[in-house]
Amino acid sequence: MEERVLTRNIGRPGSETLKAYRDSGGYTALSRALKEMSPEDVAERVTRSGLRGRGGAGFPTGKKWSFIPKGTGKQIYLCVNADESEPGTFKDRLLIEKDPHMVVEGTALAAYAIGCRRAYIYIRGEFVHGARVLEGALREARAAGFLGRDVLGSGVDIEIHVHRGAGAYICGEETALIESLEGKRGHPRLKPPFPAVVGLYGCPTVVNNVETLACVPHIIERGPEWFASLGPPNNGGTKLFSVSGHVSRPGVYEVRMGTPLRALLDEQCGGVAGGRRLKAVIPGGSSVPVLTADDIDVALDFESVAAKGSMLGSGGVIVMDERTCMVKAGAVVARFYAHESCGQCTPCREGTPWMERVLWRIERGEGQSGDLELLLSMCVNIFGRCLCPLGDAAAMPVRSYIQRFRDEFEYHIRERRCLAAGGFS
Ligand SMILES: Cc1cc2nc3c(=O)[nH]c(=O)nc-3n(C[C@H](O)[C@H](O)[C@H](O)COP(=O)(O)O)c2cc1C
Repeated sequence: MEERVLTRNIGRPGSETLKAYRDSGGYTALSRALKEMSPEDVAERVTRSGLRGRGGAGFPTGKKWSFIPKGTGKQIYLCVNADESEPGTFKDRLLIEKDPHMVVEGTALAAYAIGCRRAYIYIRGEFVHGARVLEGALREARAAGFLGRDVLGSGVDIEIHVHRGAGAYICGEETALIESLEGKRGHPRLKPPFPAVVGLYGCPTVVNNVETLACVPHIIERGPEWFASLGPPNNGGTKLFSVSGHVSRPGVYEVRMGTPLRALLDEQCGGVAGGRRLKAVIPGGSSVPVLTADDIDVALDFESVAAKGSMLGSGGVIVMDERTCMVKAGAVVARFYAHESCGQCTPCREGTPWMERVLWRIERGEGQSGDLELLLSMCVNIFGRCLCPLGDAAAMPVRSYIQRFRDEFEYHIRERRCLAAGGFS
């Protein structure tokens, strides 16, 4: 069931080297594109492939590129989002560390398609090794003529720089990333204007996730129809899922879009560890609504997961078995978003720590009647009312934990103890 497209080189010795990448056909897509295709041809192929952003929102990649205004005379920038800070998500890191040239080639192709001469890979500060590996790959690519001035004699200039962040979740949000890249505090900007029009240094900018761009060489090499055929309509390609928590074999798995979640968990990950019962699954990183064990017969594509009331998000699958206390799980998730709130807007700055406090008091056995209504009203007052989607990311899980495991929350408040075996810590 595994379909290794993006991960095809991973596990081979020296997979991060230019030699290994070229031995597997690497950089032929870039050479072909520069020789035989116009930038518009490349963008058009990406549109036809059905590729959607792998950073969380699932926005169609070709469409995003088409928003870049033409003929403004301004520089055009491409920012590669390698911040990967969403809890439960660790797939971009694998690509960066094990196959950095695929990320470089994808970035160069995207830069060519949108008319960008200077791209930045914004990588989270904690990924020290990944940043070094990328720097090494860029050096090799420059020396071989795949980057720099007049790439492969095409007359096109493409330069790529690595920029290290300082380790803040909010800097994964595209406008905060741009601010941080400009040397400022990572505070999200109000939208509109969108980065495609006013982005880095006030210029048109595309922000794309690492995995999104890693798909591009394969689309150019093997064709958009092939890529589209790997998944359901409008969900082209394979997807990397980083699976963690109570499964027998946690790790990064590459499967076709639309693969059933149950098959991913049972066949790839060896099911719930220790033969225990499944209780809950977060399908797309800690910010998305949780699914119950009854919901896992769902195809892993953007629409099907949304129809179950959750999101495919970043593909960070977190599995919880029957011993998990959902009140504590909710409190831990709330703590993360309260800690990472940038503090610019009131609902998020004030609401996220308040939610966290109430959840911990319920968890400690000090909950009060009315606490669940209070929490749900906080969710209403945060969701959709913040400057950026971090507020939604904090509210969505809390609301879903209460809605889907309400008995457990009520038991905690009434009995001042936990229903689940792994309760208080
Ligand atoms: C709070 C917050 C954090 C985010 N963190 C990341 C991240 O770490 N990596 C990422 O690719 N996208 C992240 N995103 C999504 C980006 O804003 C943006 O949509 C994405 O990089 C676009 O790339 P794509 O179209 O290729 O998915 C985050 C969004 C929000 C609101």
